[in-house]
Amino acid sequence: MKSGAVDAPRAAIEAALARSDDPVFADVGAGKSYLGFVLYDLWFRPRGEGWVYGIETRVELVQRSRELAALLGFERMQFLNLSVAESADSQALPAQIDVVTALHACDTATDDAIAFGLKKRARAMALVPCCQAEVARHLNASKALNLSRTPLAELWRHPLHTRELGSQLTNVLRCLYLEASGYQVTVTELVGWEHSLKNELILARYTGQRKRSAAERLHAILEEFGLQALAATRFALPVARPEGSALS
Ligand SMILES: C[S@@+](CC[C@H](N)C(=O)[O-])C[C@H]1O[C@@H](n2cnc3c(N)ncnc32)[C@H](O)[C@@H]1O
Repeated sequence: MKSGAVDAPRAAIEAALARSDDPVFADVGAGKSYLGFVLYDLWFRPRGEGWVYGIETRVELVQRSRELAALLGFERMQFLNLSVAESADSQALPAQIDVVTALHACDTATDDAIAFGLKKRARAMALVPCCQAEVARHLNASKALNLSRTPLAELWRHPLHTRELGSQLTNVLRCLYLEASGYQVTVTELVGWEHSLKNELILARYTGQRKRSAAERLHAILEEFGLQALAATRFALPVARPEGSALS
């Protein structure tokens, strides 16, 4: 992991953690949990408070992280062998999680991470999307219809463009979805482009201000690109949080 991969989201993560008495951090699609270990060592260990969770589907990585945490004496680190989607309903996790990160979580795991963050009422999320095929599949399915309907469909006529536009569109929709759900969103680079092509960092900070214009644009874009089916699945707007949970 490049140092910038920790530095770029670090300020936002630390600011969100600092607002909590007993901060909880969850890294989903954690892999070898580098981010969790670095944050624990730099932030959680010196303070003697808070919890770090790593959520990962590959059992051998979970086991390895558990062993390393035991070796280092990082007692407030927990590793769960669950998918992101499963973890949203898992009793092994607290009801609220202050910060959720998903760095290069494959395909729709980033969307699951957003759903997880919303359910856990995260104060902040840091997302670095990986490959994404779901929107491209939808664009493909309605391609002929859209080519006859609008010249804009030229943007995704060739398969390579379908994939690239699908990926770009997915991240735009994710940002609008977060804004419509009460988050202030910043999009920036994670590390220098020479290190990785999957380099988009989406930082979301909960303000409680659900942007109506973002919800309207989200639906307009879904409509324009023939992606209405996703309005009921990936981008269904959540109900408002209870009063008092608008954490800034
Ligand atoms: C490319 S690696 C990134 C690992 C780590 N976040 C990093 O940046 O070093 C993606 C990891 O996400 C895990 N993963 C993929 N889909 C997942 C899902 N739905 N739930 C949990 N983990 C998932 C994979 O097993 C893999 O370890």
